[in-house]
Amino acid sequence: MEVKTSLLDNMIGVGDMVLLEPLNEDSFIVNLRNRFDHNEIYTYIGSVVISMNPYRSLPIYTPQKVEEYRNRNFYELSPHIYALADEAYRSLRDQDKDQCILITGESGAGKTEASKLVMSYVAAVCGKGQEVNKVKEQLLQSNPVLEAFGNAKTMRNDNSSRFGKYMDIEFDFKGDPLGGVISNYLLEKSRVCKQPRGERNFHIFYQLLSGASDDTLMKLKLDRDFSKYNYLSLDSANVNGLDDAASFRTVRNAMQIVGFMEAEVQSVLELVAAILKLGNIEFKPESRVNGFDESRVKDKNDLKEMCELLGIEQSVLERAFSYRTVEAKMEKMSTTLNVAQAYYARDALAKNLYSRLFSWLVTRINESIKAQAKTRHKVMGVLDIYGFEIFEDNSFEQFIINYCNEKLQQIFIELTLREEQEEYIREDIEWTNIEYFNNAVICDLIENNQNGILAMLDEECLRPGTVTDDTFLDKLNTICAEHQHFESRLNKNSKFLTDHSLPHSCFRIQHYAGKVLYRVEGFVDKNNDLLYRDLSQAMYKATHSLMRQLFPEGNPAKVNLKRPPTAGFQFKASVGVLMKNLQTKNPNYIRCIKPNDKKVAHIFTDSLVCHQVRYLGLVENVRVRRAGYAFRQPYESCLERYKMLCKKTWPQWRGPARDGVVVLLTDCSVPTEEFAYGRSKIFIRNPRTLFTLEERRRACLEDLATLIQKIYRGWKSRTHFLLLKKSQVVVAAWYRRYAQQNKYQKIKSATLVMQSFIRGWKARNILRQLKYEKRCKEAVTTIAAYWHGTQARRELRRLKEEARRKHAVAIIWAYWLGLQVRREYRKFFRANAGKKIYDFTIQRIMQKYFLGLKTTTMSPMDNTWPAKPYGFLEGAHTQLRRIFHLWRCKKYRGQFTEEKKAVYEEKLEASEIFKDKKALYPSSVSQPFKGDYLEIQKNPKYQKLNSAVEEVLLADLVNKINRANGKGSPRLFLLTKSNFVLADQKTGQVKASVPLPDLASVSVSTQSDGFFALKLKEGSASASKGDFLLSSEHLIEIITKLHHIGTTAADRDQINIDISDEFLVQFKQDKVCVKFIQGGPKNGNSAACKRKNNRLLEVSVPSP
Ligand SMILES: Nc1ncnc2c1ncn2[C@@H]1O[C@H](COP(=O)(O)OP(=O)(O)O)[C@@H](O)[C@H]1O
Ligand SMILES: [Mg+2]
Repeated sequence: MEVKTSLLDNMIGVGDMVLLEPLNEDSFIVNLRNRFDHNEIYTYIGSVVISMNPYRSLPIYTPQKVEEYRNRNFYELSPHIYALADEAYRSLRDQDKDQCILITGESGAGKTEASKLVMSYVAAVCGKGQEVNKVKEQLLQSNPVLEAFGNAKTMRNDNSSRFGKYMDIEFDFKGDPLGGVISNYLLEKSRVCKQPRGERNFHIFYQLLSGASDDTLMKLKLDRDFSKYNYLSLDSANVNGLDDAASFRTVRNAMQIVGFMEAEVQSVLELVAAILKLGNIEFKPESRVNGFDESRVKDKNDLKEMCELLGIEQSVLERAFSYRTVEAKMEKMSTTLNVAQAYYARDALAKNLYSRLFSWLVTRINESIKAQAKTRHKVMGVLDIYGFEIFEDNSFEQFIINYCNEKLQQIFIELTLREEQEEYIREDIEWTNIEYFNNAVICDLIENNQNGILAMLDEECLRPGTVTDDTFLDKLNTICAEHQHFESRLNKNSKFLTDHSLPHSCFRIQHYAGKVLYRVEGFVDKNNDLLYRDLSQAMYKATHSLMRQLFPEGNPAKVNLKRPPTAGFQFKASVGVLMKNLQTKNPNYIRCIKPNDKKVAHIFTDSLVCHQVRYLGLVENVRVRRAGYAFRQPYESCLERYKMLCKKTWPQWRGPARDGVVVLLTDCSVPTEEFAYGRSKIFIRNPRTLFTLEERRRACLEDLATLIQKIYRGWKSRTHFLLLKKSQVVVAAWYRRYAQQNKYQKIKSATLVMQSFIRGWKARNILRQLKYEKRCKEAVTTIAAYWHGTQARRELRRLKEEARRKHAVAIIWAYWLGLQVRREYRKFFRANAGKKIYDFTIQRIMQKYFLGLKTTTMSPMDNTWPAKPYGFLEGAHTQLRRIFHLWRCKKYRGQFTEEKKAVYEEKLEASEIFKDKKALYPSSVSQPFKGDYLEIQKNPKYQKLNSAVEEVLLADLVNKINRANGKGSPRLFLLTKSNFVLADQKTGQVKASVPLPDLASVSVSTQSDGFFALKLKEGSASASKGDFLLSSEHLIEIITKLHHIGTTAADRDQINIDISDEFLVQFKQDKVCVKFIQGGPKNGNSAACKRKNNRLLEVSVPSP
């Protein structure tokens, strides 16, 4: 819940002087001081804000503070300038009342700062958005530009505004800023040429020289050294806390944001540089024949540079400093200028140039920031005018400035004090009159059209004849003698004759804020503000376009002989316009007070503050406030605003507004002493009463807002619902259509399926029917065919039977006839003739049989034999075949020699051993057994070997298989009748000679390899060397020969031949198993032996 705060919370002293008890000047000052000491620089008098200059930055302008004060009631929080700004902004936005913020106070009291705070607050709380932010930014950034050109360091203020400024900020109906208009009032242009001691020229000169880049300075033909320029006072060129270089960058940036073109900025800087150059132009007298001195430019360098900068012809300007054209009665005369006049002309040009440049800047800024939209605007005016000034030496400018402040005080009095009292009377409210000083009389002294000081000054300026400042003072002395606020030594009124504080060349005015002594010197000139036409024409001739713009009167086509209005007249007129403008707006006051003269923090000079409090009439202000009612409002608007607080007035009160307010306040039970009923307005005594009403209104508004929200939400939801419903109906319709379509499609396709099935079924039925009929027809045909067949066969059988019978009859008949014939013939046939026929027949058969046997060959291999022709030859036929075969074998053998016979015997033996047992055998059948493959007898290499053994039966190259790796090493293998020998292949050296009786058995595999093991008898002499595992291409022959020797020798046993795929071989130390496998890894066509492990040699034999 929001915490309710009040002005009264944590209050130091009294926040609102209206609540001060007792009320007098002392307690007022004490209260201000007390608050100032506690950093409370703001205090209220009702809705007026008193602001003390703290001369240091306080942490009370943060964004959080802005949020804190935003949309809060004026009396809710401790006094702050933001509260006033917020109040003004809200009544502008919500109540459509144009506002003006009037900031008054002495020079250095903090007016400019206050105006900036108000602007920044409004910028922070008003609408946001790209366009709005741009406008805000431009409005805010106009300040640095104007301050650079229009502010200067003075004795009272390091950043004193030397011009008056009134800015209208324009808002749209939502309260978003649209733009603004700035009006400027009388720039203190004399400062351009001369500054009082301890003060400076306008900031821009110093900023340009310190902040511009070397390049820029070179372009502008300037030097960084301040001392080079006559127009720049030296003694306070550098001000503490002011960084001119940084400010220059800020200004350039601000100009860019406001919308100055780069070329425009350059032009402006060129003019500033030209003014500095102008100040350096000096003159020397040159005597003329007529005895008068004529001025001449001393050193033409600066003149030349200035002319170059502005594009002016040097001779033209030079002439304008030496001569002056006077026009009288259509005649032109040229008079020479003396040195003093030349200096006057130079300074007049510089001042005019600068002030016109300043006005141009304001116009240019206005062009950028002016509101675009043409709709009605709400306006908030902020007035920051130069403060009341009392210097040691006060001149025309101070007079004007102070006159302006008088007018502001006047409007304050008018709008607050007098208006207040007058209103009470008008409204018929009981009222005790409060005495206050009305400064209307002083305003009258200055501005009265007949005998006001300004009117008289104008009169003097326009009068023919010699006019000096002294004649002006004389005039004043005559005419204002009687005025109680005018003082002069030479006054007819002898009161001041002995007053030594009042010099002869001065007059004194008792301003509302104090007495100010004005030196008349320069009043006439400054009021005339004269610039020789030759100079303005020379300026117009410049090629610099901005320059030409600034001096339109120099255009020879537009020569105007009429005198321009005087400065005083212009100022009075513009102040008049301003006052009228302010009067149409709702005023909000900020009254600035400076606590000390030293521009330092923490010092509170009682006398100084007391003085300001007095002349600002603040105590009277409080009195008026207290005597009356803090707040008033017309009945209509009061009723409009608070009618929701009472059922009887809500929502509409029918009847006079005043009655409505009576009913309302009675209903709200506000104590009767808290308000009074005027004629047209209700007066509320205490701000807090108003605050209470506001608070209740706010609560009530919240309820109303809730109600509106409720109804709106209801409406919105209903609309939304209806929309949804409508959409739902549409969606449903579409969906149903879609669903029906789908269903229809399904039914359609189902129907089609069913139709096709039924049609199919019907078609099949018909087909079946037709087929049946066809079958029936076929069956009929078949049956008929069978029937006909049967008939036919029966007929055939019958016919055959008949035929057989006919045949039998014929045979029987033939036999019978034969029998008859043989019976007949027997009488004539011999008894042995039958036997002879039989023998002859047999003989013929046998003859034919043997002749058939003649085709058989003599090869014993031929198995063919003719088939037996007759069963009775069975036994003879078989016997005959055997006998014939044996005979032809004998015949075949008979042709063999002894050796060939032995060869065949050996082949036979091999067949007995290996046939169907070893796969190698069939391939050996066709190979003849050669025996000596090495031709050992013929080969001289084996001579020795041959002689070492007896008759060799077989000699061949074998591989001796190495047990260690299964690889073979070639050996010569010799077999004799008694032993076999292994010898070295190369040398023929005998390696082993084993007697055959020591050989126990031979092992071979069943496969097509040539491996064989020669196993020796255990215990025999040769056995110590171990068995031999060999391989040979002539395995069959070697084994057969070995076997043959065994069978033929009587003295030993037959050698065993094992044929198996796995056998053991006894090598020297141990037994190794040799295993044969088929289809091992292909390694050419020959078998490969591999050592698998210590006990196993594996021989893989390629599959056949
Ligand atoms: N609210 C403030 N907080 C801090 N310093 C302030 C404040 N108001 C004024 N000052 C200081 O006082 C100086 C003078 O204020 P300024 O507004 O220029 O005076 P004026 O415009 O009334 O002549 C400023 O330069 C600033 O240093
Ligand atoms: Mg100022």
